[in-house]
Amino acid sequence: MRPRARGAQATINQQHLKHNVSVFKAMHPGPLVAVVKADAYGHGIEHVVPALGDVDAFAVATIDEAMQLRKLCQDQRIILLEGVFNEAELHLALSQKFDVVVHQKYQLALLDQLKDSDCLSVWLKVDTGMNRLGFELGFAKNAIESLIKSPAIVLHLMSHFAQSDQPLAMQTQQQIKSNDWIAQQGLPFSFSNTAAVLSGISQPQEWVRVGLGLFGISPIEDSMASDYKLRPVMNLQSRVIATKSIQKGQAVGYGAHFVAQKSMRLAIVGIGYADGYPWSQSQSTHVMLNGLPCPVVGRVSMDMLAIDVSAQPDTDPGDVVQLWGDGLSVELLAKQLNVIPYALVCGITKRVKFDVIQ
Ligand SMILES: Cc1ncc(COP(=O)(O)O)c(C=O)c1O
Repeated sequence: MRPRARGAQATINQQHLKHNVSVFKAMHPGPLVAVVKADAYGHGIEHVVPALGDVDAFAVATIDEAMQLRKLCQDQRIILLEGVFNEAELHLALSQKFDVVVHQKYQLALLDQLKDSDCLSVWLKVDTGMNRLGFELGFAKNAIESLIKSPAIVLHLMSHFAQSDQPLAMQTQQQIKSNDWIAQQGLPFSFSNTAAVLSGISQPQEWVRVGLGLFGISPIEDSMASDYKLRPVMNLQSRVIATKSIQKGQAVGYGAHFVAQKSMRLAIVGIGYADGYPWSQSQSTHVMLNGLPCPVVGRVSMDMLAIDVSAQPDTDPGDVVQLWGDGLSVELLAKQLNVIPYALVCGITKRVKFDVIQ
């Protein structure tokens, strides 16, 4: 008998993660920063860090994420991508040896409090066109001149691409020009995310900051991670919890958005938007059952979704359903739903059970 359980489960494959690190290392000779913010893009920071021993640093968004990460790795460099917001966070960064990004004048002012005996790695962020965080080039030139004199600061430079998946776009070309100036300052520097590395615009010596690609997902439209030999790290599954037959003309789910055009066999799967499977009524997504695609029908509910198993009428409660991962890419599902793959994996909630393949 098939095991019966609700079964929403994300399996994290550490071998695939290690493989993906080696793919990026083969592509990029310089240092590799693993971006593991947002609980490692929904993969669970504690599940991924043990497989990331070969990276040169980690990057996270918040001080809480950095503290959680510090407990998992005492010696590794951890970069705070938004920097510190106040004095207390600056002192925490010093004591925990976090690298800090500095992108606003209030953060420069905080650095005035450093004592000569302090040692803080600073990544001065230059806004080369993203128009999000960072100083404009003219201001950055003066800031570099002043920061470089501080005995307490080990200075690095960084910027961020707005559309690194479009290497030929005018904006990207302009950013590359500004980056060239940054690279000539004689300081360590970092510009590139996953798409920049995959599209070949990263500079060999830079500290690349790779997130999505490490998890085996491509950020580049109309490309799959497998095109770059990357392997999916998260495999999301659940189980069938009920089956039923419906007649032509009967509607399925909230809002009665799906109406059967013929008699059908349905399976109800134990996963919904409260687990992180995206809400939709688009009728365009599918899941995999026994290696075959089955359309999702009707609206996704909070805890369940319905699939058409007419082609596999023997489907029973307990059968395993593949939502994404091996054999069903997150990129494809994201495209069908008109969202980005980042949002899908980051949306996985605590209700999903995690399992790790070492
Ligand atoms: C500043 C910065 N660098 C690097 C990354 C990693 O980007 P990706 O996941 O596309 O590799 C991010 C992610 O949002 C970021 O905000």
